[in-house]
Amino acid sequence: MRKQIAAANWKMNLTLAQGEKLMDEILATTFNMGANQQAIFAVPFPYLLTMQQKTVTQKNFFCAAQNCAAQKSGAYTGETSAEMLNSIRVEYVIIGHSERREYYNETDTILAKKVNIALENNVKPIFCCGEPLAIRETETQNVHIEEQLKAGLFHLSAAQIENFIIAYEPIWAIGTGRTASSAQAQEMHAHIRAVLSTKYGAAIADTISILYGGSVKAANAAEIFAEPDVDGGLVGGASLIPVEFTSIIQSLKK
Ligand code: 13P
Repeated sequence: MRKQIAAANWKMNLTLAQGEKLMDEILATTFNMGANQQAIFAVPFPYLLTMQQKTVTQKNFFCAAQNCAAQKSGAYTGETSAEMLNSIRVEYVIIGHSERREYYNETDTILAKKVNIALENNVKPIFCCGEPLAIRETETQNVHIEEQLKAGLFHLSAAQIENFIIAYEPIWAIGTGRTASSAQAQEMHAHIRAVLSTKYGAAIADTISILYGGSVKAANAAEIFAEPDVDGGLVGGASLIPVEFTSIIQSLKK
């Protein structure tokens, strides 16, 4: 079975002390997670080493960076390379979050480079796609997502894409309290899997975990995750509240 994943995206929130308290409270919970279930914490860069040391001893728990540089190394002040992430054994990196695309002008070309450099350094990308409200309103979201997937991923080989993580995050549902219905999520996730299977075949597309992101919380996680093509969630606001995120982890399919 595909991996079922609850991924926390702390974004630019919490001090170190607040982050440690949150992580310690979550890790103190008994989850009885199955072999195919994971929790991933995308924390701010300054906390990665501390949080990685907390999760490394916990089966099924991992850390992620929220971004990485498109370049290998060199004179890029303020950037963090995939090689650096790998050197502190960070397993995952979010690439192409809508906030990075929108506020930091990360284009499809830049994102494709980031995917490559992450894979070269054995850091697994959590590749985000999603449409703004204007696209949803004209019902052209399927084409929009297909273009993002093609531009960001279709240069990869089947071996590289296997076990990939994709996050579908409708921008109109991020931090707005507005959630896609579970039917809307399922429809788009099935579309994403179909797009992937045109390039890589159904068997490989079937191994790829597709997470839903956009106002996931304890109260709606189980219903959304129950959809057959939804393999968990990428969670912003609710991941900052221990009882919310523990409940979201417990809502993953077995
Ligand atoms: P919210 O859960 O706060 O809507 O954020 C979603 C998101 O952007 C996760 O990456």
